[in-house]
Amino acid sequence: MQTMKPVGPVAEAAFADRLLSWFDQHGRHDLPWQHPRSPWRVWVSEIMLQQTQVATVIGYFDRFMARFPTPAAMAEASVDDVLALWSGLGYYSRARNLHAAAQRVAAEHGGEVPADFDALVALPGIGASTAAAICAQAFGQRHAILDANVKRVLARHAGVEGWPGRSPVTRQLQTEADARLPDTRLADYTQAIMDLGARLCAPRSPACPECPVAADCVAHREQRTAELPAPKPRRQRPERSAFLLLIARDDGCIWLERRPPAGIWGGLWAPPIVEAADKASLAAMGLKPRQQPRPEPLRHGFTHFVWQLQPMPCAPVDNPVSLREDLGAWHTIGGAQALGLPAPIRRLLESLEEPPS
Ligand code: ADE
Repeated sequence: MQTMKPVGPVAEAAFADRLLSWFDQHGRHDLPWQHPRSPWRVWVSEIMLQQTQVATVIGYFDRFMARFPTPAAMAEASVDDVLALWSGLGYYSRARNLHAAAQRVAAEHGGEVPADFDALVALPGIGASTAAAICAQAFGQRHAILDANVKRVLARHAGVEGWPGRSPVTRQLQTEADARLPDTRLADYTQAIMDLGARLCAPRSPACPECPVAADCVAHREQRTAELPAPKPRRQRPERSAFLLLIARDDGCIWLERRPPAGIWGGLWAPPIVEAADKASLAAMGLKPRQQPRPEPLRHGFTHFVWQLQPMPCAPVDNPVSLREDLGAWHTIGGAQALGLPAPIRRLLESLEEPPS
């Protein structure tokens, strides 16, 4: 009988072999930080690549190496010099940390990048995955990186459930990553698994037919590449409810107000939105309910809450002072479509084929 989890030590060893053969033919071998793969070059490239694409990084990397060929050269420069050369890469704390770390290397490690995982992690801006990348690529040590691309490859290959941002899931992925490490060619293997993630095991539409490790990939076998890795769970947002006053005159014109510039739907036009729409509250506003079916409530999600808006058809009584002409105006339903309206309000007005009467 076929077992559901074929990934044992033998398959894992084969994983590295197959990945390295693929890398020899199809991987990236011409990246500037691979020639030479010195610790400082690998380190700087890894920091730059944390939030930036390879194609963008290359130019910056070459300029950095020309200006700061060693940690000591950076340590002697001012942080402003480093930031000036970083300008355009974004996430400037990376540059500030790199400068501070270069100064620590100069002061505490005699200017040599330490060939030790714990010493690297102790430096500003170097997390576990970056330290592993430096150890493996520059020193050929047996450390497994776990950046976002690698997490995706492993979540799929090992069938790891759950969002990789959760620490138990990260720990499981780290175990899977460690189990797949080869004994030799650690630098190439590290680049290979990143290249696999970037080139074949893409977030959407991965190229499984070309993948060297598809044969024992759980997600591929179960056709779950679209589900793995699991996305970040959406927070349950609180619901807020309010009433949307569809105030219509007998000629069918509807009252719309421009919303205050700051806040929800700022500057757009909408019917007045109020907390209470019972008879007394409406009367206090110079309005009365219309005896007609209420349209379905609107539900609209914002980042921090979901708004449920109950449309309330109503009519003005005399000339209500609550309808201030410095805030709003009467519009035909057709004419209102030319205004800046929030999308759910636009849909609601479109659905009111006939104005409330
Ligand atoms: N992302 C992080 N490190 C990388 C590397 N060495 N090559 C390509 N992309 C990367």
